[in-house]
Amino acid sequence: NPKTRVCGDGIPLRSVENCREMTIFVVSNIRTMNRIVAPSMLSADFGHLERDTQMIDRSAAEWVHIDVMDGVFVPNISFGFPVMKAIRKATSKLLDVHLMIDRPIRYAEEFIKAGADWLTIHLESDQPQNTLACLDKIRAMGCKAAISLKPKTPAEAAIPYLTKCDMVLVMTVEPGFGGQKFMADMMPKVQAIRGYIDAMNPACELEVDGGVDGDTCKLCIASGANVLVAGSAVYKAADIPAKIKELRG
Ligand code: DX5
Ligand code: ZN
Repeated sequence: NPKTRVCGDGIPLRSVENCREMTIFVVSNIRTMNRIVAPSMLSADFGHLERDTQMIDRSAAEWVHIDVMDGVFVPNISFGFPVMKAIRKATSKLLDVHLMIDRPIRYAEEFIKAGADWLTIHLESDQPQNTLACLDKIRAMGCKAAISLKPKTPAEAAIPYLTKCDMVLVMTVEPGFGGQKFMADMMPKVQAIRGYIDAMNPACELEVDGGVDGDTCKLCIASGANVLVAGSAVYKAADIPAKIKELRG
């Protein structure tokens, strides 16, 4: 009897039609939680940047992750605008640009003009008022804005930024280098941030970056992450497209 049917969280529904509406709602909510894989170009062969970018372009990966390091915020220097523009030319995938630079508000506009679709800034890289202003600026330019937390930064530090951003990135290594060991002790932080996101901004994506491979990605997904960055796991794989498919699950 449809009149007595119960759906979802146990709320009795008046009719089958209402139940169908509830089903559609649940399915669309799951869709926003789709798993996204973003191979990191930091592990590519820079001598063959176009080839390695096009390989990702042809794969099942949704995004291309670009790590920009300034030698100040992190103890390493990667690359800047000319390299990023070359990557932009070689793919039509969304560019997920991870800025590991001091006071990113100085350069946000230029990165968006260079082709960033997503721009992530670290909340440790400037004063809170500048970080908030930077997120506003990114969004005002039509780019998606994200906030990142280094391993020692607690989950609660993300709260003031949650309604101002489209994604939170939880670092699962100390930022600066590819090929480091995955920090499984970051999983409680991922779980806590998943809880904050669900309560405050359910459309917000939750990304993990560092040491993510075919095994550790399962812990990340189980903890509530839905965007997986992977550098060495992808580029060291014998079959790169197959590895990307494996990460997508
Ligand atoms: C590290 C970077 C990562 C790095 C990940 O600071 O943010 O994106 O490329 O590399 P793997 O997957 O090798 O740890
Ligand atoms: Zn990164």
